[in-house]
Amino acid sequence: MAGNWKMNLDHVQATHLVQKLDWTLRDGKHDFAAVEVAVLPPFTDIRSVQTLVDGDRLHLKFGAQDLSAHEAGAFTGEISGQFLARLGCTYVVVGHSERREYHHESDAVVAAKLAAAYRDGLTPIFCVGEGLAVRKEGRQVEYVLAQVEAGLADVTPAQVASIVIAYEPIWAIGTGEVATPADAQEVCGAVRTRLAELYDEPTAAGIRILYGGSVKSGNVAAIMAEADVDGALVGGASIDPVEFAAICRYQSHVGAHSSSR
Ligand code: 13P
Repeated sequence: MAGNWKMNLDHVQATHLVQKLDWTLRDGKHDFAAVEVAVLPPFTDIRSVQTLVDGDRLHLKFGAQDLSAHEAGAFTGEISGQFLARLGCTYVVVGHSERREYHHESDAVVAAKLAAAYRDGLTPIFCVGEGLAVRKEGRQVEYVLAQVEAGLADVTPAQVASIVIAYEPIWAIGTGEVATPADAQEVCGAVRTRLAELYDEPTAAGIRILYGGSVKSGNVAAIMAEADVDGALVGGASIDPVEFAAICRYQSHVGAHSSSR
């Protein structure tokens, strides 16, 4: 379960959130080995999060929301993957739809950023997903598979085994509009099938595929019940530590929503 905070929470607020999240999860006896929990704060928060996670030996993983395709040099405002690795980041989001839309990141840029993440020892959370117009035309599977193939163009079989792929239909992000579990499964299942074709069956079976888009504690269990959904990439609900903890504990509130809230 990964929480993409987007451009929310400064480093002081980040400290509070991480402490509260960790406390809430421990209080609920969260099994971190069964359900990994990661937070993806803004760059300026990462050092504070690292200090807490290392100092208090928290079981939370953390990462960044983007990285530069370049290693170092005259790229004003960019952040290198090697800096993120030095800060102890496990994950880095690559190709989020908000980066593709507002920063014009093409499939080629996304592929270069995936290569940069692997170069620096980071695990990419590679985002794909269709907009409303594509969905209305019923072309979501072909559209997403084209994004997957373009992004993975230079990713080797050894590298791809650790990748995390997040299917986030753009029309369901921040809108309250959730894809049905069947919608999520349709695309996540197709992605896994294509991964098996591009690499091999065991590799595809081991890759973690997340769903993202208006995930909340009330809908996560049904989405997670789908065969090819292995986790969730959570935006808005991840900046509320109690709500995000409830999402992480989805296994314990299946059929018992009232007891966990
Ligand atoms: P919301 O959960 O706010 O819809 O955001 C999803 C997302 O974009 C996570 O990366």
